[in-house]
Amino acid sequence: MQGPWVEKYRPQTLEEVVGQDHIIPRLKRYVEEGNMPNLMFTGPAGVGKTTTALALAKEMLGEYWRQNFLELNASDARGIDTVRNDIKNFSRLKSVGAPFRIIFLDEVDNMTKDAQHALRREMEMYTKTSSFILSCNYSSKIIDPIQSRCAIFRFTPIKGSQIIKRLKIIAEAENVTATAGALESIVYFAEGDMRRAVNILQASSTIDNQITEESVHEVISKAKPQDVRKIINSALDGKFMEARDLLREVMVVQGTSGEDMITQIYQEVSKMAMEGLLDQETYIDLIENIGKFDYRIREGSNPRIQLEALLTKFLLKDKES
Ligand SMILES: Nc1ncnc2c1ncn2[C@@H]1O[C@H](COP(=O)(O)OP(=O)(O)O)[C@@H](O)[C@H]1O
Ligand SMILES: [Mg+2]
Repeated sequence: MQGPWVEKYRPQTLEEVVGQDHIIPRLKRYVEEGNMPNLMFTGPAGVGKTTTALALAKEMLGEYWRQNFLELNASDARGIDTVRNDIKNFSRLKSVGAPFRIIFLDEVDNMTKDAQHALRREMEMYTKTSSFILSCNYSSKIIDPIQSRCAIFRFTPIKGSQIIKRLKIIAEAENVTATAGALESIVYFAEGDMRRAVNILQASSTIDNQITEESVHEVISKAKPQDVRKIINSALDGKFMEARDLLREVMVVQGTSGEDMITQIYQEVSKMAMEGLLDQETYIDLIENIGKFDYRIREGSNPRIQLEALLTKFLLKDKES
């Protein structure tokens, strides 16, 4: 299959961002002024926080934006110290070809209070050379001293009519059609999340390029084996964030339950062992863990947390290749 449409159709400019009409004009003004304070983008997933940060950086920093823009995830599996080191190393350098540098830090609400205080000190230390854009789901989880140093922008879910308009543009560019019922149904499942909407559209198009309400429903019900294998392989390759993102996407977009997901992981791991892709020791270890986490999920633990914890057990296991 071709690449993900969410990337292919990620807006490249502020102008292109759908919705968020209370935010975009203010950001354009920063661009005109050639200056910006520290910003905080809050709001639910898939509504354009990262996209807007990227577009703003490009317009603000111009031709050399790549060299002057750093994107980090606060919940990086390598730990918060790595994140802070990256900030330090990046901010120490002088900006080249741009007036200043921009550091985009995603998922800040996953940082502990201690880490947030350390971040605050860094924000102060590097005010001359760098501006920060912090992104989070809830600003209430961010310590006051950080909030008070940022202009806060609250991103809102995308309206159904705006999602439909965007999906129609993408469908036309991809030479697929979607019935009114199909689009309505995608809007219903997306709940204002544009990423989810575009993912459902793409997944539905692989069933038939004339998308109907039925194909949408078919997509939403079950995770595909090749997706599950991709999750497992990413984790085995040590790419935890990639595996986690894909897991979340599959579970959200396709509405797979925790129980179904872990059963499918079990089936896929067994298949991989039979195909000679896993040595016996690794296989035994994985099965032991799958059993443990399967039990926890069935006992009622939060399935997403348990599945992500299971993925950490896959890291650093050697695949036979
Ligand atoms: N406001 C929007 N306008 C157009 N596309 C959007 C918008 N929000 C999200 N998308 C689509 O969803 C993808 C993920 O959006 P992203 O900005 O990463 O969301 P967030 O950071 O809020 O979780 C984008 O690449 C784009 O395809
Ligand atoms: Mg984001």
